[in-house]
Amino acid sequence: MNVEGRRYRTIWLKEENPAVVQIINQLALPHRFEIIDLCSVEDVRRAIKDMYLRGAGLIGAAAAFGMYLAVLEAAPEGGGGDPAGFGEALQRAAALLKNTRPTASNLAWAVDRMLALVLRIPGGERRERARLAAQEIADGDAECCRCIGLHGAELIRAIAEKKRGEPVNILTHCNAGWLAFVDYGSALSPVYAAFDRGIKVHVWVDETRPRNQGASLTAWELARHGVSHDLIADNAGGHLMQHGMVDLVITGADRVTRRGDAANKIGTYLKALAAKENGVPFYTALPSSTFDFTLCDGLGEIPIEERDPSELRFISGKTAEGRIETVQICPDESPARNWGFDVTPARYITGLICERGICEASEAGIRGLYPEGNLAPLGLGGAVPEGNLAPLGLGGIH
Ligand code: MRU
Repeated sequence: MNVEGRRYRTIWLKEENPAVVQIINQLALPHRFEIIDLCSVEDVRRAIKDMYLRGAGLIGAAAAFGMYLAVLEAAPEGGGGDPAGFGEALQRAAALLKNTRPTASNLAWAVDRMLALVLRIPGGERRERARLAAQEIADGDAECCRCIGLHGAELIRAIAEKKRGEPVNILTHCNAGWLAFVDYGSALSPVYAAFDRGIKVHVWVDETRPRNQGASLTAWELARHGVSHDLIADNAGGHLMQHGMVDLVITGADRVTRRGDAANKIGTYLKALAAKENGVPFYTALPSSTFDFTLCDGLGEIPIEERDPSELRFISGKTAEGRIETVQICPDESPARNWGFDVTPARYITGLICERGICEASEAGIRGLYPEGNLAPLGLGGAVPEGNLAPLGLGGIH
C-alpha cells in the first residue's frame, strides 16, 4: 500500500543486506513513520512479543523471516554444509518464536512450515532455500489478502447497489488492514478494493482499547488511502447499529476453528451480538493460514492471550507540544486484567471471506472451500500434511 506516494509492504529484506529484515515500527504510529532493522532471531522474537509488529498475517510472516535468520545463525556462510547442532538450534528458535504470542494461528503455521522445510533440505542449500521459503510465505500472505479484497468488494458492491449509490457504512474492530498483514489486509482489503473501484464507502473505526489499534493504525491507514472514516468509542457500535448507521461489519481473525468459531481482538464478540440483534451482516475476513483445523470448539480450545495490565492502566498519546507521553488513567491501587482476544461463535458470523471465496461459518462451508484442510496436528519437525504445504493463494479461487 502507499505511504506518502511510496509503495510499502510491512516486512521485507533489506536491499543492501538480505541478512537484515526490515519492518514498519507500529509502536511509533500514527505520529511517526519509522522503519526498523531486525538482525537476529532475538530481534524478531522481541518485535513480535513487544508488538513492534502485530496482526495475525504479519506475525506469521515475521516468524518465517525469523526462522530464516535462525538458519543464518546456525549455519554461517562458509561454515560447511552441516554444522553440529543445526537441527537443535532450529528447534530452539522455533520454540522461542512460537512462545511469543499464543492466539494467532499464523505464527505456529509459519514456523512449522519453515522448520519442516529447512530440516529436510541439504546443508549447502539451506540459507538460500530458507530465504526463498520465508519470502514465499510473505508473498502468499499478500496474495491471499489481495484475493480477500476482491471477494469482499462484491459484498460491498451489492449493498451499494441496494443503497443506490449512498455510501456503504462498514464497521471494523481493531486493525485488520495492511499493517496487520504483509499487504492489503483482511477486513480492510474489501474496503480498499471497493474504494479503488469507485464505490462510496465509509468506515466506523472502533478505537479498540486498550492498545488502540483502531485509533492509531486503522485510522492512519484509511487516512493514507483517502477512505472516509470516523473514529468511534468501542462502546458506540451497538448504538449505531440500532439507528441503521451500519450496513456491514467486517473484522479480521487471529484463529478460526474448523467449525468457524473465530478468535479476534477483545470486544469483537460484543459487536457480533449487537449485529445479530440488529440484523446487520457480520463477516470475518481471513487468509487460510488463520484456520486451525485441529480445533473445533473455539470457546474451549483457542488459547486466549492475557497481556500485561499496564496496557490497561496507562495510555500514551501526543501532547499539544508534540511530545509522546504516557499517563496513568486509574487509581494507583487498582489492579487490572487484560485479555487480548475473545471468541465469536460461528452462529453469529454471516460468512467468512477467504482467499478462495466467501463461505458459511460452518464445518461444511469451510470444508467446501478448503477440502485439503485436515485434523492432524502439525508436530515440530514432524511430517507436515500436504494440505498445509500447498502454495498459498494459488489456484482454486472460487
Ligand atoms: O494483538 P494484535 O494487534 O496482534 O491483534 C490482532 C489484531 O489486530 C486483530 O485481532 C485483527 O482483527 C486480526 S489480525 C489481522
